[in-house]
Amino acid sequence: MQRLKHGSVTLESVLLLISFSCFVFKGLADYIPPAKLDGFVYENRALNYDTILIEAFYDPVCPDSRDSWPPLKKALSYYGDRVSLVVHLLPLPYHDNAFVASRALHIANGLNRSATFPLLEWFFKHQEKYYGAKTHYLSRAAIVDQIAKSVTEVVGSSDYHSIKSRFNDTKTDLQTRVSFKYAASRGVYGTPFFYVNGFLLPDTGSAVDYNTWRKVIDPLIGRKSVKNEDSLHFFL
Ligand SMILES: *[C@@H]1O[C@H](CO)[C@@H](O)[C@H](O)[C@H]1NC(C)=O
Ligand SMILES: *[C@@H]1O[C@H](CO)[C@@H](O)[C@H](O)[C@H]1NC(C)=O
Repeated sequence: MQRLKHGSVTLESVLLLISFSCFVFKGLADYIPPAKLDGFVYENRALNYDTILIEAFYDPVCPDSRDSWPPLKKALSYYGDRVSLVVHLLPLPYHDNAFVASRALHIANGLNRSATFPLLEWFFKHQEKYYGAKTHYLSRAAIVDQIAKSVTEVVGSSDYHSIKSRFNDTKTDLQTRVSFKYAASRGVYGTPFFYVNGFLLPDTGSAVDYNTWRKVIDPLIGRKSVKNEDSLHFFL
């Protein structure tokens, strides 16, 4: 009797566990895999087998991510459409307000795709307002308020209230979770991390300067194909 009871309890807990796992997996299945690939494509440059693909994992409130952006942007302008960039977001738990800042980028991207990178640059410029001692006594609502105002300015076409309501919309929450989970699934544990054609660049977690980008990308492209004043040096 004792044994039977024990057995039935075990069966019950197994059933409970199974139904619980189904619940958990159903919850996940609603957004993983996502309907759309994660990431923001820079300047809508084509992603195909003829281009070099750089993937940057950024946290909008991370100082090292901020410092790595100008040299990467310069390299992207140098290489033109030979190099594409996809930015993935990894809101780091030890950066205050990283999740809400990342969510703001998803919101902006959903409203006006061209506003995504201007807003990322806006965060890089003003990120110090959003972490550390400065935000210690600010409520989450006050931060969302401030960020929503700035998003409104950068995005242009939408009004403050519709932007603010998107911070309450589960869709933008899920998009930001997908970004986090995508980064985790790629083994990214800090920012900035850079992948080139699918392979991780060494020196992860620190800014890569312009010369390093040139050293990495030039050999991949073949110097002759670079249509730029630099190619003159090659022929002289
Ligand atoms: C989208 O955002 C860009 C960059 O901020 C801005 O120049 C453009 O006017 C915006 N488009 C609309 C339709 O508001
Ligand atoms: C967001 O949700 C909170 C709590 O549910 C609510 O108090 C607030 O008014 C909502 N804000 C907007 C802008 O919809």
